[in-house]
Amino acid sequence: MSKSPAEAKSGKPANGEYVTLIDHSTEKQYDLLVRSGTEGPKVIDIQSLYKDTGYFTYDPGYTSTGSCESTITFIDGEIGILRHRGYSIEELAEHSDYMDVCYLLLYGELPNASQKSDFVHEITYHSMVHEQLLYFYRGFRRDAHPMAIMAGVVGALSAFYHESTDINDPEQRRMATHQLVAKMPTIAAMAYKYSLGQPFVYPRNDLSYAANFLHMAFSVPAEEYNVNPVLARAMDRIFILHADHEQNASTSTVRIAGSSGANPFACIAAGIASLWGPAHGGANEAVLTMLREIGSKDRIPEFIKRAKDKNDPYRLMGFGHRVYKNYDPRAAVLRESTHEVLAELGIKNEPLLDTAIELERIALQDDYFVEKKLFPNVDFYSGITLQAMGFPTSMFTVLFALARTVGWIAQWKEMIKEPNQRIGRPRQLYSGSQERTFVPLDKR
Ligand code: CMC
Repeated sequence: MSKSPAEAKSGKPANGEYVTLIDHSTEKQYDLLVRSGTEGPKVIDIQSLYKDTGYFTYDPGYTSTGSCESTITFIDGEIGILRHRGYSIEELAEHSDYMDVCYLLLYGELPNASQKSDFVHEITYHSMVHEQLLYFYRGFRRDAHPMAIMAGVVGALSAFYHESTDINDPEQRRMATHQLVAKMPTIAAMAYKYSLGQPFVYPRNDLSYAANFLHMAFSVPAEEYNVNPVLARAMDRIFILHADHEQNASTSTVRIAGSSGANPFACIAAGIASLWGPAHGGANEAVLTMLREIGSKDRIPEFIKRAKDKNDPYRLMGFGHRVYKNYDPRAAVLRESTHEVLAELGIKNEPLLDTAIELERIALQDDYFVEKKLFPNVDFYSGITLQAMGFPTSMFTVLFALARTVGWIAQWKEMIKEPNQRIGRPRQLYSGSQERTFVPLDKR
C-alpha cells in the first residue's frame, strides 16, 4: 500500500482520517486525507492526487468539488440554511442593514457603533465617481442593456482608479474594496439614467446607502424627491439578501480571475459578466418575462407542462437551485417583503404576484417538481418587488450585481490572503483527435 499524503510528507504515520482509493488496474491503494470544516460535508483532499496516482478527477459543473476553504458563508441546501459568518440570513434581513452585512462579510464581525459609523462614513464619502467617467457612458447606445454598460464601466474603473490596483498592497486592496462598494450604486443608477436619457444624479451624503441609490435612480434635478422610507428599507433588504452566496458561478469567476493576479476592478467586471446569464443572476429578469408571458392563472398548467417536457428546453425561471433542495431562505424573506412593498404603494391587485403565487402553489404540488426538489429561488419574488418600486426588468440583474459586489470582493480578499494561493487552473478529460499529420490545403 502506498503512503498516505501526510505520511509521504512527514515520513511518519499520521493520525488523520483517510478514505482509500483502490486502483483495480494496478492493485495499488492510495489513502486520501479527509478534512472537516466547522459545518457541512467533509471533503477529500485531492491536491496531490495527480502527483501520487497519475489521475485527474472529472467533475463538470463542479457538483462535488470544493474549490477553496472559506470562512464567509455557509449554506445547507438540504434544509434551506444560509448564514454569513454564522448569522442566519433571516436574522440579518430582520435586524441589520446592508452596511452591517457589508462590514460583516468584509471584516468577519458585525461592527460596533464606532466601527459602523467609520465604515458608513468611508463608503458614503467614496460614492462619487470620477467626472471623466460620465463621458465613458456616452460611448454606449442609449438602448444598450444596462448589464452591458455595467460590465464595461466597472472594467474601466481600473483606468480611473489605477492607484488602487496593486493587489499586494493591503492599503490599496482596502481602498479598492471601499471604492467598489461605494461607487456601485452610483454606477448602476447612472446606467439607468442613461437609458432614460435623463441627467445623471449625484449622490447625497445625508442619505443611507439604499435611500441614496433610490434618489440617484428616481430623482430628477427639476423637482424635489423624497425617498419613501418603506421602499428604502425594502431596497436595503434586497441588497442584504443578495450580498453573498459562497462559491456560485460569478463568485468563482471572480476568484479564478483574481487568482492570476488581475486587479479587483477587472475581477468584479468578470463577475458581472458571469452573473448576467439567465441560469444565474439574469433569472430575475427572466422570471418577469415568464410571468408576463403566462399572463393569467388559467395558462399556468400549459407552462408547467412545457417545463416538464424533456424535449422542450423551457424551464420555469426562478425555480430550482444547484445547492438548495428546499425552499431558498432568501425567497421566503422576499415573498414577505413583496407584500409589504405592494401594500405601501397601495397596489391591491398585482396580476403578476397572483400568477406567481399560483404558479408556486401548483408547482410545489406537482410530482416532477417535488421529486426533483425544485423550489422557488431568490429570483422568483425579487422582480415583482423591483417592478412595483419602478425599476424596468432590464435593471433587475444590475441590482443583483450591485448587492453582490461586496460578496465578490470579500471572497476575492479572502483568496488573496490565502498563504497557499495559486492560480486557478482546472484540468480536463481530452477526447479530441490524437496526433495526425498536417494536410496541405490542396489535399483537404
Ligand atoms: N424548470 C424545470 N425543470 C428544472 C428546472 C426548472 N427551473 N430546474 C431544474 N430542472 C430539472 C432539470 O431539467 C433536471 O432534470 P433531469 O434530472 O431530468 O435532467 C433536474 O431538474 C436538475 O437540474 P439541473 O439543470 O441538472 O440542475 P443544476 O443544478 O445544474 O441547475 C439551475 C440549477 C438554477 C441552473 C436550474 O435549476 C435552472 O435552470 N433554474 C432556472 C433558472 C433560475 O431560476 N436560476 C436562478 C438560480 S438562483 C440565483 C442565482 O444563482 O443567481
